Amino acid sequence: MIGIFDSGVGGMTVARAIEQWCPGYPLVYLGDLARMPYGPKSPAMITEYSHRNTEFLLRQGAKLIVIACNSAASTASTFLRSHYRQAIIDVIFPAVAKAAALSATGKIGIIGTRATINSGFYEQRLQEARPDCQVYSQACPLLVPLVEEGWLDRRETKMIVKKYLHPLRDKQIDTLILGCTHYPLLKKTIAPRIGRRVNIIDSSVEVALHLKSILDTDADLRNELHAPDTPSRFFVSDMPAPVHALAGAIFGRPVLLEHTDV
Ligand code: DGL
Repeated sequence: MIGIFDSGVGGMTVARAIEQWCPGYPLVYLGDLARMPYGPKSPAMITEYSHRNTEFLLRQGAKLIVIACNSAASTASTFLRSHYRQAIIDVIFPAVAKAAALSATGKIGIIGTRATINSGFYEQRLQEARPDCQVYSQACPLLVPLVEEGWLDRRETKMIVKKYLHPLRDKQIDTLILGCTHYPLLKKTIAPRIGRRVNIIDSSVEVALHLKSILDTDADLRNELHAPDTPSRFFVSDMPAPVHALAGAIFGRPVLLEHTDV
């Protein structure tokens, strides 16, 4: 199985994209809602949670791990890669590669949680991928709670998005990375406020395409993971009321959520 974790349901945007681009590969998903949000927490805490999440997914039979949380990928992926021999992919590298290739001016913006932006991980990876780029980042701590509340199209959400994007607009970026797995749900609100000509990179799609290219080229991994008759499973460590509606909105169908203590 392909193991995927996030702090909450935002990572289901990644699970959904993987389901679409890599059909026939069962998923085991963990949303650590009991400890969410990760964004305001320290790197040590996020690393500890990510470690536990990975252990849980491996116990469920995951052979490959997808870190579907930018906050975890930016603070804990180095530790996880050094600790486990299993393949670990994350949402950051594919989005960085796409942004570096797509930007004409090299002026690239990133929005994410405080943990992601404070880590500087995106900036470092972008500078490595494209040394001439200028990177502008903006922490948007209010957006995750708005998404979790389902306030996707509210006037208040539009005002807050506009305020957060204003400094990036001023810098005339031509590419914006949605550096949080919750933000694809706000794409329709973000796109007109950053400017229609700005490329928007959705890390959930990029990581699914990256995984597809790995599976296309690695026959052993393909054979190990391909199991079209095995159903995917979705676990959460807490079950707050709006979670079913949000999961259903992401997948476009009702999703059976199973409770687990991580
Ligand atoms: N989904 C997480 C991310 O991609 C953000 C949610 C949280 O703060 O826990 O960064």
